[in-house]
Amino acid sequence: MPSTEAHQISAASRLEHVRYAIRDLACVADEVVKQGHKVLPLNVGDPLNFDFQTPPHLIEAVYRAMRDGKNGYAPSPGVPEAIEAIRGEAGRKGITTVQDVFVTAGVSETVDLCLSTLVNPGEDVLTPCPDYPLYSAVLCKLGIRLNAYDLNEDDAWQPELADIERKLTPRTRGIVLINPNNPTGSLCTRHMLEQVAELARRHNLIVFSDEIYDKLILEDTPHIAFAAIAPDVPCVTFGGMSKNYLVPGWRIGWGIVSGEAAAVKAYTEGVHRLLRARLCANHPEQYAIRPALEGPQDHLIEVQRKLRSRRDLTQKWCEATPRVSCVAPRGAFYAYPKIDIPESDEIFVKELIRQKHVMVVHGSGFGQKPGTQHFRIVFLPDEQTLTKAYAGIAEFIRERYGE
Ligand SMILES: Cc1ncc(COP(=O)(O)O)c(C=O)c1O
Repeated sequence: MPSTEAHQISAASRLEHVRYAIRDLACVADEVVKQGHKVLPLNVGDPLNFDFQTPPHLIEAVYRAMRDGKNGYAPSPGVPEAIEAIRGEAGRKGITTVQDVFVTAGVSETVDLCLSTLVNPGEDVLTPCPDYPLYSAVLCKLGIRLNAYDLNEDDAWQPELADIERKLTPRTRGIVLINPNNPTGSLCTRHMLEQVAELARRHNLIVFSDEIYDKLILEDTPHIAFAAIAPDVPCVTFGGMSKNYLVPGWRIGWGIVSGEAAAVKAYTEGVHRLLRARLCANHPEQYAIRPALEGPQDHLIEVQRKLRSRRDLTQKWCEATPRVSCVAPRGAFYAYPKIDIPESDEIFVKELIRQKHVMVVHGSGFGQKPGTQHFRIVFLPDEQTLTKAYAGIAEFIRERYGE
């Protein structure tokens, strides 16, 4: 007999702290769209929402793979030609102690897999604050206490070493670096990477270096891979196709394990257990990895040209706007301005959507030092769209808070 009272199926309490502000704002935007307005989306880091196109030879490679029958399960670590190409890429990044390479469903799966393989209950992993929210979401899912270290806005958003030292516990197992950084657009200096390496050596940590934006550098200085300057330190370098090769919907990422063979052996075996348990990453899309990494890179010239121009426009606007200041982004396509306002940045962002139909993400969605307020801009839209959006934000600030 069906009971008259429905029993609620509750979600696990571990999930209470899982937040994904970037997508959570969608309900406010939906309200505005229902009222018949168009929202200017400066909130989601998907280049294909704007004037960027997937290089055609990559689409051709996937199409060919499908036609050639590569539609069954792939080997769990990835198809051999993709793994070979990623090893080649590791070499070009200067990583000399590669012990293993595996392909995943986006860097999102690399993050999940690498954290899940590492931590036992009661242990922790140092993550940056602000951070890309997937890291804290996965740790919450695993029931792990969050242990965030500050990025220092006064030092171009470099990791704050003194804070890392303060936050280290005997049960800290690893540290996450996001370089180039989301949400700040910062790049770690060589000196900083060397200091983090020293700290990892001293405290027996594995380093997870998320380098998904490593080809989207907006300066003339080249990107420096953590594993290249610390070949002896256990490290997994995260890379992928979503951003550099303009295919976020294909869900292709990878991990490059480096360090001394004996030190990373047991950990790598653990990773492979999980790789087998989830069968494989998307199969036909893996056949685009070699053409991407070894084929023409022409699209990157155009992408970087557009991003530099949009970064410059964004930076000029930040400098000219009262109550706003910003450390100039040097990589990726994010700016993370500070705002001086008498209310929370979450209210700021929600009201901005309602009143000016411009969507950015509040700093509190990424974590920030208490007492500070920020918002993250995705500067992927063209100059005309950005100019219109920035005029709306400036007007909103003036009307709501005065000069
Ligand atoms: C720093 C960072 N890491 C990982 C990801 C996830 O990327 P993927 O599309 O490869 O899952 C993103 C996506 O925005 C990101 O910004």
